[in-house]
Amino acid sequence: MTDWDVLRTTAQQMTARSYAPYSGYRVGAAALVDDGRLVRGCNVENASLGLTLCAECGLVSDLAAGGGGRLVAFCCVDGQGAVIMPCGRCRQLLWEHGGPPLQLLTPAGVQTMAEVLPQAFDATTMGHR
Ligand code: THU
Repeated sequence: MTDWDVLRTTAQQMTARSYAPYSGYRVGAAALVDDGRLVRGCNVENASLGLTLCAECGLVSDLAAGGGGRLVAFCCVDGQGAVIMPCGRCRQLLWEHGGPPLQLLTPAGVQTMAEVLPQAFDATTMGHR
């Protein structure tokens, strides 16, 4: 059973660590892993704007650094604590590590990856797995 309050609070706490001097738009993310771990991230911008790391990039790195596993529930928020949708690129990142059943807290309620990234391109498209 996912404790969405814990994920949302953790994501909100992560916005305080965001490095967003260029956009001024802080993002925090948190997710539950299938072994019960919590992973998190915040956006880290760069003077070369295209190199900016979304909060989800940090979260996926935290997942790998902590031993890997599958993401089962995810949430990201802005600096005001409002739930936001992951950008298109980050939906692809989340798909890789959670797949179709990964649950996301969205402004429209809980939805699955399959709902927010329909007809996804993934390893199976290339004949892997
Ligand atoms: N951002 C994220 O961290 N995640 C998203 O899914 C959307 C965008 C960040 C990147 C940039 O630092 C700022 O929000 C504005 O785009």
